[in-house]
Order: sequence, then C-alpha cells, then structure tokens
Amino acid sequence: MKLAHWLMFAACAVAGKAGAQSWAWDDGTTPFVVSPPEVVERMLRLAEPKAAERLVDLGSGDGRIVIEAARRFGTRGLGVEIDPSLVARARENARRAGVEALAHFEARDLFETDLRGVDIVTMYLLPDVNLKVMPRLLQDLKPGARVVSHDYGMGAWTPDELIELTVPEKPVGPAGRTRILLWLIPANAQGDWTSDLPGAGGEWTFRIAQQYQKLEADAQVAGRQMMVRGSRLRGEELKLVVTGNLDGRVRNLLFRGLLRGDRIDGDVTISDGEDSTTRPWTATRKR
Ligand SMILES: C[S@@+](CC[C@H](N)C(=O)[O-])C[C@H]1O[C@@H](n2cnc3c(N)ncnc32)[C@H](O)[C@@H]1O
Repeated sequence: MKLAHWLMFAACAVAGKAGAQSWAWDDGTTPFVVSPPEVVERMLRLAEPKAAERLVDLGSGDGRIVIEAARRFGTRGLGVEIDPSLVARARENARRAGVEALAHFEARDLFETDLRGVDIVTMYLLPDVNLKVMPRLLQDLKPGARVVSHDYGMGAWTPDELIELTVPEKPVGPAGRTRILLWLIPANAQGDWTSDLPGAGGEWTFRIAQQYQKLEADAQVAGRQMMVRGSRLRGEELKLVVTGNLDGRVRNLLFRGLLRGDRIDGDVTISDGEDSTTRPWTATRKR
C-alpha cells in the first residue's frame, strides 16, 4: 500500500469509517473523503466555470463540488458516485442549497460516464484511478476543456498549473498539505504547418512534435533555420517565440494563435529590440 493510500485509509479509520470502506483498498477503489471548502473554492477558481458550461465531478461524495459550482457560478453539473447513499445525501444537500435544478447526481461507476461535451471535470481520486481515467479524458473531452484534481497527478501528463497550500482542516495527509492540479485538454498541434508572411521572410514552415501539451517546435523561413526559444500550448492557445535573422537583421517573433482543426488563426509580433509591429498570422497544417 502506498503512503498516500495508507494516509487516506488511516483518516477513514480515525473517522470511524474503516468498516464501511475497508473494501476500498483491496480493489484500489477510492474511499469517501471530503475536499474541505477552501479546497473546493480553489479548485473552482482554477477551473473558472461559466454559467453555460457543464461540469462533472467523478466520485462526487456528498456533492459539494457540483453544488458549489452551481451556487456560485450557475454551472450545470453532474456528480457521479458509486455509493447510492452518498448520492441521496448529495441530492438532499443540493435541495437545501436551492440548486437542485442545476446540480444532478447519479449512482454510477465513474468509468461508465460519458464525458463528451463536458467543459470541466473535477476529481479527488487515488493516483492509480487518475491514471485509468486519463485516457478517457484525453479521448472524450474537447480541446480547452479543464480537468482539476485534488492532490494527485496523472503520471507523465504534467499539469498546466499546480498550486500547493496548507489546509489545516484537511482530514487526510501530512499537516494539511494540499495540491490542486489543473490540466487543459491540448489541441492536436502535431505536424508540419506553413504560413505566408510577406515582408517577414515569406513562407514559414513550422514542424511540431507533441506529447500532451508539451511541444518540440522547429521553424524555418525561406529555407533558413530559425531558433524556437519557447512554446506553449494551453488548450487551443498556441504560442511560439522565435529568434533569427530576417532580411539581414535579428528579430524576435511572438506567434500567438488559436488552433482549431488544421488551422491556426492569430497574430505575430515582430520586434528588433526597439520597434515592434503586430500583424495577423494564419498557419495551415500540411500533414
Ligand atoms: C475522495 S472522495 C471525493 C468526494 C468529493 N469529490 C470531494 O472532493 O469532496 C472519492 C469518492 O469517489 C467515490 N468513488 C470511488 N470509486 C468510484 C467509482 N468507480 N465510480 C464512482 N464513484 C467512485 C467514492 O465513493 C468517494 O465518495
């Protein structure tokens, strides 16, 4: 049993719930442990829910994340929970909070939940469970959708943002130490892209290799190699920072765009250290 698992187990035992939940440990199932209100608040702050969006909490416990998203942001949410008694409790909590029209709960295995079209997924599950959920998140959620996890990561898929804080009232873990992790589902940037920038070298080619949101990019203009100094893919938002010789002068170029399908639409800011100009930028995927 891993340390984190043991700590969760110990907390359940202290709370007098070990009898009901000791089944969890043999099959790797996550027990019911609540996220304290401050953690829920921080998770939602990272996810930035909007009224028109849909949120799903995988393993919703007493419903607090879905209820808080509905109460504070008017977000429609679904909590899926394996334990029917917790589903009943969550429904009652939603009724008491006056958000039963927005906050729904179903007794269901989280692995049987359709995540297509969902904007935000929240979870407080054990690391091994996160790893099993990960392929579903990447496959079913659209680029730009957000995933927020309390405490545990998803292996090689590093988070886009991570906050660490101490939450003394936390029922598990050492000294209330808490991590909240945010991922954005990355758009598919892999491949060869071209764009035409008359007056800025002419035809540009970008070759991009991708693992999750991490990019390895190579840029050439008119057959000359440029140096890609930085890149970032945040959902559909792509940034590339390129330096090199353009028309006999060293220039820095910041390409920014929204990646949808085989097109990137945005702008490029070209500077030579003194002056800068910004102009539209479009790139098309060739393969
Ligand atoms: C650590 S609690 C988190 C509760 C709530 N999301 C929160 O943050 O306060 C994890 C919850 O997941 C539920 N759970 C565990 N395995 C599940 C599964 N396969 N499908 C649905 N729910 C599951 C547990 O019953 C428990 O209520």
